[in-house]
Amino acid sequence: MLILQTPRLVLRDFGESDWSAIYALSREPAVTQYQTWLRLVTPTDAQRWVQNATFHNNLQPRRAYNLAVTHQGQVIGWIGWGHAEDRPPDHYDFGYALLPPYWGRGFMSEAHEAAVRYMFEVLDAGRVFGECASLNTGSARVMEKAGMTLCQAWMERNEATGAEEEHRRYAIDATDWRRTGETTAST
Ligand SMILES: CC(C)(COP(=O)(O)OP(=O)(O)OC[C@H]1O[C@@H](n2cnc3c(N)ncnc32)[C@H](O)[C@@H]1OP(=O)(O)O)[C@@H](O)C(=O)NCCC(=O)NCCS
Repeated sequence: MLILQTPRLVLRDFGESDWSAIYALSREPAVTQYQTWLRLVTPTDAQRWVQNATFHNNLQPRRAYNLAVTHQGQVIGWIGWGHAEDRPPDHYDFGYALLPPYWGRGFMSEAHEAAVRYMFEVLDAGRVFGECASLNTGSARVMEKAGMTLCQAWMERNEATGAEEEHRRYAIDATDWRRTGETTAST
């Protein structure tokens, strides 16, 4: 089992009993507004998602990493990353979501920092990407704080509302990530 520790959090592979946390995330419109894959409708969907995540987490070689974000023993969110087959093997994409009561306390910045470090230091990633709606300032800020820079913007139709919304893609490569770490360490 993969376990990453941060000062306040433990990020770990999902277990099958964690489905209720995914279901809880899926019940939060403030979460599903931006994390559209979480628009699940039944507990069974959430159970299937966790089973599927566990199956892929256990594949060798491992390509997908879907981890529970836990705080004081409670699952408070999800962070996931992996590389798509149609991309260079050292390019990773990630996503994340937290239950609203835990927003604004720096938790996702902390989880994301550990995930990005794992991608560069353990998986030897060459480049790491993340996407968000431009209106999702919290998500954009998590990525900017990690030294990621805007590399693409486009318009996309929101399936729930029908509105056209701007989306952004952020990225950081291994060289810039190491430089950012060195700058932070020396200031
Ligand atoms: C996006 C999300 C994961 C952020 O998690 P979080 O733990 O609240 O983020 P942090 O507390 O680490 O905050 C990171 C930065 O964003 C800022 N921020 C957070 N939420 C914000 C908001 N709603 N508006 C403006 N700034 C915000 C914080 O102030 C902080 O910046 P600072 O350190 O310069 O002050 C959380 O809001 C969430 O789960 N949203 C719903 C799902 C989602 O949008 N997922 C991402 C899809 S791309």
